[in-house]
Amino acid sequence: MQNLKAVITGVGSYVPDYILTNEELSKMVDTTDEWIMTRIGIKERHILREPGKGSSDLGFEAVKQLLQKTNIKPEEIDLLICATVTPDMQFPATANIICDKVGIKNAFSYDLNAGCSGFLYALATGCKFIETGKYKKVIVVGTEKMSSIVDYTDRAVCPIFGDGAGAVMLEPTTENIGIIDEILLSDGAGRVHLHQKAGGSVKPSSFETVAAKEHFIYQEGQPVFKWAVSKMADVSVEIMERNNIKPEDLAWLVPHQANMRIIDATANRMNLDKKQVMINIQKYGNTTSATLPLCLSDWEPLLKKGDNIILSAFGAGFTWGAIYLKWGYNS
Ligand code: UT7
Repeated sequence: MQNLKAVITGVGSYVPDYILTNEELSKMVDTTDEWIMTRIGIKERHILREPGKGSSDLGFEAVKQLLQKTNIKPEEIDLLICATVTPDMQFPATANIICDKVGIKNAFSYDLNAGCSGFLYALATGCKFIETGKYKKVIVVGTEKMSSIVDYTDRAVCPIFGDGAGAVMLEPTTENIGIIDEILLSDGAGRVHLHQKAGGSVKPSSFETVAAKEHFIYQEGQPVFKWAVSKMADVSVEIMERNNIKPEDLAWLVPHQANMRIIDATANRMNLDKKQVMINIQKYGNTTSATLPLCLSDWEPLLKKGDNIILSAFGAGFTWGAIYLKWGYNS
């Protein structure tokens, strides 16, 4: 059998229209544009405000755009993997709902939850299916309605997150392009610092859990920050070294967009120039599973076939990792 690799052959994305600015946030909680810009680096984030809409609606828009751009019909898709921590509902999977909305009928689909590393995990998983030779077209989506679990009276959390979705198409190739290597790790001990307290099987939803605000994101910012800075940089440097990539050989670092200071620390450890780093945190905030494909989508016009790219992320779990790929096409 030929040595098949998976290559990204298209990107789609979507963010909802409503823009929540730092100015508006500073009327809701005791904060300032200056504090948010210096400590996090976010200016604004997009929020899905239409009642009755959820992550599947954002994912649907991203996948619809992806299919249009790649000229691939829904019935050609073999598998759709959806990374999300804000599924439409506990079950069925948001992936199943996206497929239904898009008209994907000949595929299997499932959700994957790996916090902010969800897209990395899903991309790596999708690649493995392609590499078997049995699956020809796999969609990987990251979609989040983070606003559904953010407490807009908690100033330590509410400036950080935004809503959005991004999707990529994976297809097989025998060329020297595509996904080459991955490092994926997790440590569940980190869950104490970042989690949602209620709504799962340990603490099902009740009047008490709602009153205690236990359905919102619980985050201890500083330990998460410390872990993120060291772990994201560690794996990004390791994947560079074991693939013999020098800083000047790398076209782009695509880092998870959680905090500008975490992005800077990672880029510095990799000895990169800021020009090599995709940064759009200022306009979307942290969209969890959607940050990486939103970057790829924004930068798609600049990407060239064969470009060396490293994606890296850190998130709830804790989960973290890095993927090295060669870009598959010129726009
Ligand atoms: O994607 C993975 C998920 N999450 C992350 O990666 C988040 C990682 N953590 C972080 O990005 C940062 O820890 C935060 C942005 C969450 C917080 O920044 P920090 O520099 O670690 O601030 P801090 O928590 O140490 O708080 C410093 C001060 C505190 O006041 P005192 O106790 O020094 O008087 C906070 O109450 O800043 C205060 N503060 C704020 N002040 C103005 C916290 N939030 C705000 C705010 N506006 N929005």
